[in-house]
Amino acid sequence: MSGILKTSIARKFAMALSGLFLVLFLAQHFTINFTSVVSPDTFNEISHFMGTNFLVQAILQPVLIFGVVFHFIMGFVLEIKNNKARVVKYKNYNGGANAPWVSRNMIISGAVVLAFLGLHFYDFWIHEMQVKYLQGDMSGLNAAGEFRYYEETVAKFAGQPVRLGIYVLSFVFLMLHLLHGFASSFQTVGFNNKYSKGLKVFTKAFAIVIPLGFAFIAIFHYINNL
Ligand code: HEM
Repeated sequence: MSGILKTSIARKFAMALSGLFLVLFLAQHFTINFTSVVSPDTFNEISHFMGTNFLVQAILQPVLIFGVVFHFIMGFVLEIKNNKARVVKYKNYNGGANAPWVSRNMIISGAVVLAFLGLHFYDFWIHEMQVKYLQGDMSGLNAAGEFRYYEETVAKFAGQPVRLGIYVLSFVFLMLHLLHGFASSFQTVGFNNKYSKGLKVFTKAFAIVIPLGFAFIAIFHYINNL
C-alpha cells in the first residue's frame, strides 16, 4: 500500500473523496440521460459533444475511470482490513441494533453496482470505443446520416425486459449504497457545522431521487417502444 494510504483514517478519507467525486459524475450523467426522455435532439447533441470533445475524452474520461477503479479497489481493501482487525468474531453480534443493514453491507451493495458497471460498459462504452477508435468513425452519424446516440440508447431497453430488470434492480442497490455512502462521506471528511443537518437531508434525497430517475429513464424507453 503506498505511503499516504497506510492508515485506516487515510483510506477512509480517500474512499469518501472518491465517492463524492463519483456522486458529481452521477449528477451530470443523470442530467444528460434525462434529456433522452424530453428531447432526443438535445440528447444527441450533448452525447456527440461529450464523445468527441478532446478535454472530455483525454482528461475527464481517464480521471473518471481512475476514480471508479480506485473507489472499488479501496472498498475491498477497507473491507478486508476491517475483517482482519476483528480477529475474534463477536459472540452475539446484533448489528441491526446499532447500525442499519445498508451501513453494514456497503461491500454487498457496492459489489452489485460494480457488476452492473460491467454490463453497462459492455452495453455502451465498449461499443463507443470500437466505433470511434477502432473503426475511426468520429462522425457520430448512422447510415441515414443522422446522429446515432439516441436510437442506440433506446435500443438497449426497447423490447429488452431482462436487461431492463437487471438495470432497475441495480439502481435499487445504487440507492442503498448512496443512502449510507453519500451522507457518511461528509462526516468522514470532517464536515460538521450548522449546515450538517440540511446536508444530510439533501444527501438522502439525492440517494433516492437519482436512482429512481435512472430507473424512470430505462422504463420510459421500454414502455415508449412497446
Ligand atoms: C438509465 C440509466 C443509464 C443510461 C441510459 C446510461 C447511458 C450511458 C451512455 C449512453 C453512456 C455513454 C458511453 C459513451 O459514449 O462513452 C454511459 C456511460 C457510462 N455510464 Fe451510464 N447510463 C445509465 C446509468 C448509469 C449509472 C447508474 C451509472 C453508475 C452507477 C453509470 C455509469 C456510467 C459510466 C462510468 C460510464 C462511462 C463514462 C464514459 O463514457 O466515460 N451509468 N452511460
